[in-house]
Amino acid sequence: MHYDTLIRNALIIDGSNRPGYLADVALSEGRIQRIGELQGAQAKEQIDAAGRVLAPGFIDVHTHDDTVVIRQPQMLPKLSQGVTTVIVGNCGISASPVSLRSDPPDPMNLLGARGAFVYPRFSDYRAAVDAAVPAVNVAALVGHTALRSNHLDDLQRTASLAEIAAMREQLRDSLASGALGLSTGLAYASAFCAETDEVQQLAEELGTCGALYTTHLRSEFAPVLEAMDEAFQIGRHARAPVIISHLKCAGAGNWGRSPQLLASLERAALSQSVACDCYPYAASSSTLDLKQVTDAHRITITWSTPHPEMGGRDLLDIAAEWACPLLDAARRLQPAGAVYYGMDEADVQRILAHPLSMIGSDGLPEDPFPHPRLWGAFPRVLGHFSRDLGLFPLHTAVHKMTGLSAARFGLEQRGEIREGHWADLVLFDPARVRDVADFKDPQRAAEGIDEVWVNGVRSYAAGQANGQRAGRFLPRKGC
Ligand code: ZN
Ligand code: CU
Repeated sequence: MHYDTLIRNALIIDGSNRPGYLADVALSEGRIQRIGELQGAQAKEQIDAAGRVLAPGFIDVHTHDDTVVIRQPQMLPKLSQGVTTVIVGNCGISASPVSLRSDPPDPMNLLGARGAFVYPRFSDYRAAVDAAVPAVNVAALVGHTALRSNHLDDLQRTASLAEIAAMREQLRDSLASGALGLSTGLAYASAFCAETDEVQQLAEELGTCGALYTTHLRSEFAPVLEAMDEAFQIGRHARAPVIISHLKCAGAGNWGRSPQLLASLERAALSQSVACDCYPYAASSSTLDLKQVTDAHRITITWSTPHPEMGGRDLLDIAAEWACPLLDAARRLQPAGAVYYGMDEADVQRILAHPLSMIGSDGLPEDPFPHPRLWGAFPRVLGHFSRDLGLFPLHTAVHKMTGLSAARFGLEQRGEIREGHWADLVLFDPARVRDVADFKDPQRAAEGIDEVWVNGVRSYAAGQANGQRAGRFLPRKGC
């Protein structure tokens, strides 16, 4: 047989949470054609894996890459981690369907300024992704806050029946064009005033077509369990799977409660489809939120529109320099972005290790001084947490970023190394793989990620992007 690509002597970690095995893998026409001992086989391109790990390309289930996949389609922060698919539109904010009448409300500004929102319909966004041909595959959620911004003149209230009907129609149209589901960001001021009933009515559109509900909970602080219950209730009402975004115990007063959160998730899982994603760091990042300003833990500023010179600096130092209280300094910096060192490492590890958690970076690509998760989340799980700390075996780490993610998000024929599946693959050195990006120098490519194939096209070779781009828009199953 003559194939496009032959990868010999690889330790196949196939994404299904089974330990690895040695084999050769042959690719043609974008797909995995054969797995086994392929001694006599021929190929245009042959690679000796020499025992390194071949895994399914990683699926970043939690991203804010909506506009960057179009503006910077080479997608280096993700490709360099071995990521081959990104899911955009999380936390209630999406690039489409959006028609802005003024500047994007917080936190939609995480996706760019007003000029970035040029997709009044979901199908416009899908066409723009196809035209840009990003280096990674893209699947998309529709943001609740995005819908609200289209139809509410004032975001500080719940929607009227007429407004809900209008949002539903846009959601239905988006789902028909391939959106995966609906995301909310109920903690943010732009969505906090939405009553459960508003979300529940929107979510009714999901159940009928097998779409899912993901949520940045109404609170990740003291009332986090109540917020989880609200999410489960919405999922039950809509008969839709629920994914809790970046599950965490936020704020010093909340530390140590991860066993309660996980018990609640397990209890819900007995009667409905629930799961969560998380990123492997004890610090969060978003826009600078006055409600989260505290001196109980460190806060650094990543960007500020009125004070761009403060990017990378501690809020405490800025307040001292300005001789004003923290809250006043925060107000003067807004609109701004921040990193909050507000989690406990033991909670992070417990959530990471739970069988219902998937890896999502939550990286913020527009940020000039981004949280290092943008460049480091996946190799950090493989290197730091699996290999160095032994939190779980390597095949479990891979499962949490491939097979589990594809199954939960309904990405067909991806996420596992199987004959007939799409050839989204990453070849990495399990001894060398590690995240290099850190809080001081956050925009650095990982080490040990050697080769990446997207739809069978080698797009990262010998630890470098080679300019190939073969990503596609991935519509929801059955769309
Ligand atoms: Zn979020
Ligand atoms: Cu997010």
